[in-house]
Amino acid sequence: MHKVVISGTGVFTPDQSISNAELVEAFNTYATRQNELYAGEIAAGTRDAMTMSNEDFIVRASGIENRYVLNKSGILDPDIMHPVLPERSDEDLSVMAQMAVHAATLALKKAGREASEIDAVICAASNHERAYPAIAIEVQQALGIEGFGFDMNVACSSATFGIQAAADMIRSGSARAILMVNPEICSAHLEWRDRDCHFIFGDVCTAVLLERDDLATAEDRFEIVSTRCLTQFSNNIRNNNGFLRRTREGHMSDRRDMLFKQEGRKVFKQVVPIVSDLILTHLADENIAPAHLSRLWLHQANKGMNDLIGVKVLGREPEPGEQPNILQDYANTSSAGSIIAFSKYSDDLAPGSLGVICSFGAGYSVGSVIVRKI
Ligand code: COA
Repeated sequence: MHKVVISGTGVFTPDQSISNAELVEAFNTYATRQNELYAGEIAAGTRDAMTMSNEDFIVRASGIENRYVLNKSGILDPDIMHPVLPERSDEDLSVMAQMAVHAATLALKKAGREASEIDAVICAASNHERAYPAIAIEVQQALGIEGFGFDMNVACSSATFGIQAAADMIRSGSARAILMVNPEICSAHLEWRDRDCHFIFGDVCTAVLLERDDLATAEDRFEIVSTRCLTQFSNNIRNNNGFLRRTREGHMSDRRDMLFKQEGRKVFKQVVPIVSDLILTHLADENIAPAHLSRLWLHQANKGMNDLIGVKVLGREPEPGEQPNILQDYANTSSAGSIIAFSKYSDDLAPGSLGVICSFGAGYSVGSVIVRKI
């Protein structure tokens, strides 16, 4: 069995961003107009008035202050309220592949690797813009990688499950180096007209290069000590988009369930204990005391969830920097969140330092990756 390392990471951040103030202004304009449009029905009691959104609520409930998006103008236009992306021909690089190529190029550079030295591409993300051909194969072609590629989806846990899949293949010898990319176009599957969730997501793409330690040349690298994945079915975070919609009478007109929906409070309460138990069991099985962890790079959905998980895992309040959050700047970027945190806050660790990358979300799904700085 080969020892596997993460030898490079990369983050593609879109150049457009939306602050909470801009977001709330657009939503409230939309809601006010809707209320004016349906004033008669609202007065007659046959329709509920839309309630205004609020910046203070967003920061207090989630910790999110800003999000990056591929297209800001459509999202903030009260007459549109979704991203507007130019149509692409089948010959053009798809949106997800384009984001992935940017992030992958950064990860390859960090690892000191050429595309020709990579054996496979895994595209692990929470929503794929098409079923086939796989986005991973398109990325493979765009970068000039030989070998194979495939897509996988475990919602917000896609990246950690992708790391496990890649690490297992490298460990057993079926590939020497694998590029795992997480292009998340969350702005396209978010309902920006729904006050309960309009602040939650942003767009980004992360890339992780995993390879055999004995072949790696990067100075800064992290050994994958071990991985642990867990899933437990829940409808509390759900997206019903799919081709079966056409087969059901009348279902083309109501499209709310094609987009992200959640019971946020239930998710919060149910997922926190599952995550902290999984990390603690995983550490115990590897004979690692939580006190020996230098860092936790957690999924970036909600600051309150992360604060609680940190306390449960470490048995005390995390010190500043021990559990870096990036969600205040990026919002929830689904599977990419914990990888952004890892990518931005890992270079300073001393050799031998231990840490856990952990993601969690729809499914439910939880992935835990214990890493050691080489
Ligand atoms: N502005 C102002 N008020 C809002 C609002 C907004 N944008 N959205 C909701 N509210 C209101 C609600 O209507 C509710 O009002 P009520 O008490 O009068 O009924 C109140 O604020 C509390 O709403 P609730 O949905 O219970 O808030 P919350 O504290 O649970 O926070 C989330 C909501 C989504 C931030 C939080 O539940 C969360 O992050 N959960 C975990 C989500 C997660 O990890 N998902 C994984 C996705 S991959």
